[in-house]
Amino acid sequence: MNLTVIGTGYVGLVSGTCFSEMGNRVTCIDIDEKKIEDLKNGIIPIYEPGLEAMVLRNVKLGNLHFSTSLNSSLDKSDIAFIAVGTPMGEDGSADLQYVLGVARQIGREMQTPLIVVDKSTVPVGTGDKVRAVIQEELDKRGVDIEFHVVSNPEFLKEGAAIGDFMKPDRVVIGADNDYAIEQMQALYSPFLLNTGRFISMDIRSAEMTKYVANTMLATKISFMNEVANICELVGADVNKVRIGIGSDQRIGYSFIYPGCGYGGSCFPKDVKALKKIAEENGYKANIITAVEDVNDKQKFVIAEKVVKHFGEDLSGKTFALWGLAFKPETDDMREAPAIYVIKELVKRGAKIRAYDPKAMEEAQHFYLKDIDAVSYCNSKYDTLKGADAMILLTEWKEFRSPDFEELKTQMNNAVIFDGRNQYSTLKLDEKGFTYYQIGKKND
Ligand code: UDX
Repeated sequence: MNLTVIGTGYVGLVSGTCFSEMGNRVTCIDIDEKKIEDLKNGIIPIYEPGLEAMVLRNVKLGNLHFSTSLNSSLDKSDIAFIAVGTPMGEDGSADLQYVLGVARQIGREMQTPLIVVDKSTVPVGTGDKVRAVIQEELDKRGVDIEFHVVSNPEFLKEGAAIGDFMKPDRVVIGADNDYAIEQMQALYSPFLLNTGRFISMDIRSAEMTKYVANTMLATKISFMNEVANICELVGADVNKVRIGIGSDQRIGYSFIYPGCGYGGSCFPKDVKALKKIAEENGYKANIITAVEDVNDKQKFVIAEKVVKHFGEDLSGKTFALWGLAFKPETDDMREAPAIYVIKELVKRGAKIRAYDPKAMEEAQHFYLKDIDAVSYCNSKYDTLKGADAMILLTEWKEFRSPDFEELKTQMNNAVIFDGRNQYSTLKLDEKGFTYYQIGKKND
């Protein structure tokens, strides 16, 4: 099929590239000329395992193209995907100006019948707005061109996006027209050959599905973080409780890892947006509100433990910080717990020596650019020199089995604050460390 994907952010670039990998002819559009020029030259704006090689391969094969001009690719396309950002507005709702702007442009430019697919995460009812805006533009032009609007929420995870897209658990399609559903099924069937399911429904239910999936996952995490905090108070070990409950198939093991809070571009934004959708419809969403409150507090738990150990005044203290990204295998620092922990410690006079395998540039040039008390180190061991404690905030694989003797040699004190319970089974107290984790009191 011939496809246009508008927006070369995370979702757009990964989707477009994976569609081209299946032999479709894809043109990815963005208004950012520098980004398009870079992509044409094989420079990928984000770090995502496997993406660069897939882009280069499909550009070479002639399946994948990049352009700033929508009208040149729209004519040849069967399907156009809207994959532009829906940033959080000041009031917590999703800002639709980019989605509706693109819809308007499609209405102005389209010459041939088209399926318009909304892949951005949008509030319930946006499909109707997209349809109305396109129709308005067609009416202004005085032309009658057939088009269908489809909602196709994206469930890919950063760091595993290529795998998630190529072998999805499910593809959700919201549409009110059989032809559009058949076309979408034809497009996705190569991705669903093994176990994935194709689920079609009405547009509003599909739009709701995305918010509910992410909020459900965030709920599991906040629930476990709350349980972890209670475990500490009653002298239980959340790591054991987690295994105890996960073995019940109705509960399951996934997404019940306690930690220093969830971050990223999706959970914080989508939880807030669903709460807002409920409010706008006159409903007070108590559980969703609590999910957010628990997470906001959880981001401070590590800093609280540090203060409890070292006291309020941290001047003269240095902390080795392992992990800046909101999770492993990404350079993304949006809403990352590291931002909150670092600010809390620096505010009390501490110095930070930080290392992350991928997110150092993001931190240095953007998220932590105004914080002079952070220095960036070349390796995890580099951070340790003269450190009063080590703090682990992202569970990168390379942090899993460090040389603990090296830690003791380099650091002033053998103290570890583990925000991801990576060393919970290693009996670090027997190795001479004071070890703090989430959801278990240190011995
Ligand atoms: C999420 C959804 O998983 C994905 O389906 C959706 O399309 C986008 O949002 P992503 O934000 O990339 O994906 O990250 P994910 O792997 O889901 O992790 C989100 C956050 O939850 C991370 O900060 C992670 O550390 C945290 N987390 C996850 C926990 O604290 N505990 C867990 O058990 C799982």
